[in-house]
Amino acid sequence: MSALRRIAILASGAGSNMEAIAAACEQGVIPATVGLVIANVPGAMVLERAERRRIPHYCIDHRQFEDRDAFEREMLRALREASIDFVVLAGFMRILTDRFIGEYYGSLLNIHPSLLPKYPGLNTHQRALDAGDRESGATVHFVTPELDAGPSIVQARVNIGPKDDAASLAARVQEQEHRIYPLAVRWCIEGTVMLRDGKIWKDESIMSNGINA
Ligand code: GRF
Repeated sequence: MSALRRIAILASGAGSNMEAIAAACEQGVIPATVGLVIANVPGAMVLERAERRRIPHYCIDHRQFEDRDAFEREMLRALREASIDFVVLAGFMRILTDRFIGEYYGSLLNIHPSLLPKYPGLNTHQRALDAGDRESGATVHFVTPELDAGPSIVQARVNIGPKDDAASLAARVQEQEHRIYPLAVRWCIEGTVMLRDGKIWKDESIMSNGINA
């Protein structure tokens, strides 16, 4: 049997998506190992969570580098050193250069808290509320050079109620994130979803399971 794929998770904050993906790997739902967690913010909770799960982790503080290239070179070095072949962005609040994206093209995912192509960028929940939208959600997509615009792998929808504010909406969307992110990672690792020549390919088996893929 071939060796398990090795996932790195890049994050800036709490790390609840990291936790969901690491748990799915431990339970064998995703046939891969989380071999590294990188945070760019010292003291980020995701580092503590990685420590508790005994996942190797680093803080690579972008402010300690003279520019984006130098910061990314250090991340790429750490990823290679840990033999990482699949990278998951989970609340990672830095924009990546084309060079970095090129290194992991097709094996680089992000989760975004809106129903893309609606609301790329920040403050998605408030923007959905301000627009009077009846629903919101989250999108897992391949990362390509254009911000939040790579091909979508899966989306989850939640209804917006009259009493919702940005915090309540964020909490309900996050519950869905924890469901769809491990699923999308699994599909990519298993090869039932692929990025080929800029276009997404999905195996028929995932289209008929009631998921908005
Ligand atoms: C998630 O809501 C994700 O959609 C956004 O950042 C948040 C990260 O949360 N990009 P966590 O650190 O995984 O808990």
